[in-house]
Amino acid sequence: MIRTTIEKICAYEGQIVTLSGWLYNKRSSGKIIFLQIRDGSGFIQGVVVKKEVSEAVFEACKNLPQESSFHVTGMVQRDERSALGYELLVREVEVVCRAEEGYPISLKEHGTDFLMDYRHLWMRTPRQHAILRIRDEINLGLREFFHEAGFVLVEPPIITPASCEGTTELFEIDYFGENAYLSQTGQLYAEAAAMAFGKVYSFGPTFRAEKSKTRKHLNEFWMIEPEMAFVDFEGNLKVQEEMVSYVIKRVLQQRRRELELLGRDVTALEKIEPPFPRITYTEAVEMLKNAGFEFEWGDDFGAPHETHIADQYEKPVFITHFPTSMKAFYMQPDPMNPEVILGADLIAPEGYGEIIGGSQRIHDLELLLEKLRAENLPEEVYQWYIELRKFGSVPHSGFGLGLERTVAWICGIDHIRQTIPFARTLNRVYP
Ligand code: 4AD
Ligand code: MG
Repeated sequence: MIRTTIEKICAYEGQIVTLSGWLYNKRSSGKIIFLQIRDGSGFIQGVVVKKEVSEAVFEACKNLPQESSFHVTGMVQRDERSALGYELLVREVEVVCRAEEGYPISLKEHGTDFLMDYRHLWMRTPRQHAILRIRDEINLGLREFFHEAGFVLVEPPIITPASCEGTTELFEIDYFGENAYLSQTGQLYAEAAAMAFGKVYSFGPTFRAEKSKTRKHLNEFWMIEPEMAFVDFEGNLKVQEEMVSYVIKRVLQQRRRELELLGRDVTALEKIEPPFPRITYTEAVEMLKNAGFEFEWGDDFGAPHETHIADQYEKPVFITHFPTSMKAFYMQPDPMNPEVILGADLIAPEGYGEIIGGSQRIHDLELLLEKLRAENLPEEVYQWYIELRKFGSVPHSGFGLGLERTVAWICGIDHIRQTIPFARTLNRVYP
């Protein structure tokens, strides 16, 4: 007996195979029952013809509720009409678990809020399945990109004694009677590791107590954060555009079927290759003013501003040299003009907004101390970070790419909550 998966079924045309999976949906027309079978690797149609199976098998299929689990044996045959190109002519069915009646997700349209309440089941459906498959591919592509380039993966702690990106957005926890926080970013620890390994990256969950209800904000999201010793502002941008292009290319190669299922316009993705356009913050302000936006130098971009800027380009665009006052304490001011920093945000096309924030870091001890004091940050908890500037400090740079925003953009979907298995948003910690 050949056991296989739907993904690999093309190798078995004309042969009898057994699949283990679930009944996604069912249709019947008297003497034929069509089973939509899913096994995690894909979806396939099983055809049960009354006169070709035992009565017991036919009856079992006829009465099987949606989402029952089973082993199905049958012959693989070509079917030009299906997306997969194959169907299964069913011979035997062995039910593993007969599902209860009343599966909450039917094939009719449900609202997204309803579906989010049933996320644990919703992820079984083809669209959600495709999104999470693409997420997996992006995940793997990012890791491979950095591994191949000689970066070492280091895991920063999730429980931290201090903030990195500003104090207002921290989830506070009671750490045996002391205050601690869920990490907003692994960056400061990645900087320590970069001084040990040269090139490192961290990739983990990060937490922000932002009370934002936009389609771009999660309170728990994943970020990949490379950090590189002896790399400056320029070198930093180069790694970013290469990384993004590599990942897109990989998804286009490996996950085309999923992109098609999602209805993604792949021609937009096919244009993504280095170099990416750049404008300075100051130029972006001019651009906005010329387009009629009310915007002053020093203001932060909102979604309409980002979208207007991104719409001028077909590729992601770097906005560089933000005002120093707007950005985090660790960013290196431009020696030519300390009013702005040697950093950039990368804005994705098509209104997906900022996917990367990054910069060269302050490596000078005195300057760092000055910044910590100016921002009223407690030196004691940053002592270890300050010490990195005492012992062999070097210019270094890094960035953070938000995984979910990247998935949303690549998939072309309108809300970030569908890009993570179980979203945590302002109004949701269930399921
Ligand atoms: O720009 P951010 O805040 O940068 C940092 O945290 C740096 N310490 C990273 C570094 O240099 N190592 O966040 C980086 C990215 C954003 O560009 C965005 O893609 C994502 O993280 N991000 C969010 N994604 C989903 N929901 C949120 N609330 C997010 N906040 C940031
Ligand atoms: Mg940012």
